[in-house]
Amino acid sequence: MLQTAVGYLRERWPFRHGLHLPETDVERLIRDCEAEPWHLYAIRKRIWRRHVCVACGWIADHLPADSSVFEPGCGSGANLLWLAKRGFSRLLGTDISPQAVALCRELARRADTSVRVWQDDGLRPRELPEPVNVVLSVNWLYHIPGASLEALLDTYRPCLTPLGKIVCDVVDTAYNAVPGNAYHTDDSHLPEGQRRPSEYTFRMSREEVADVAASCGFRLLRETRFAAVRPQRAVYMLERCDAA
Ligand SMILES: C[S@@+](CC[C@H](N)C(=O)[O-])C[C@H]1O[C@@H](n2cnc3c(N)ncnc32)[C@H](O)[C@@H]1O
Repeated sequence: MLQTAVGYLRERWPFRHGLHLPETDVERLIRDCEAEPWHLYAIRKRIWRRHVCVACGWIADHLPADSSVFEPGCGSGANLLWLAKRGFSRLLGTDISPQAVALCRELARRADTSVRVWQDDGLRPRELPEPVNVVLSVNWLYHIPGASLEALLDTYRPCLTPLGKIVCDVVDTAYNAVPGNAYHTDDSHLPEGQRRPSEYTFRMSREEVADVAASCGFRLLRETRFAAVRPQRAVYMLERCDAA
């Protein structure tokens, strides 16, 4: 019981997740790379992006540091850089935005960290890495119209080693009960007719995630839910299973 409580608190404790990049004027670098200003938030406020921190914390706490980690949709590479600080050195990432890729490369160079990052569409990748131990997929997939967890698992299963893990977040179906959830959160001040569709394009229950995982050849190893935030998110660690 005590062990469970300690484990839960450790998992959620935000203050070990800071990203203190040395002598880097991140804001200027983002401008120079012409990357989205949003990446500043992802770096500076990282500890409050709980779904992202828990996903990376699981990797750091439960997998050996010689594991290779590949993050499609890696943006500035903040998650990969955090893992590098935890001793991981086999780090790879892709992003559809060449500006984000440039930013990630420059941040990694300044942090004296080796991250192999290239421009690619994470939904239809041209280049998959050699099999990796972990695919990390956080905070990008459910923003893309037409994307699905099923397609993600099918796409990345072949580049996982046997028993390799996919660590991913999803927007939980609990969000469907929040007033205005069908609309973009930035448009809440507008009349309904003028609002854009929600930026959270799909939501999934735990049962749906478990079913999709099983049908794609994965088993659910770990899960946690953030019920008090909007949108409600859940984080899952799935393990590739192969027929005996
Ligand atoms: C909200 S950011 C999150 C970045 C990173 N995963 C994180 O948690 O800090 C979403 C990222 O997904 C990227 N992205 C959007 N569509 C993509 C696609 N089809 N393939 C790869 N990356 C994509 C964007 O360029 C952006 O950098």
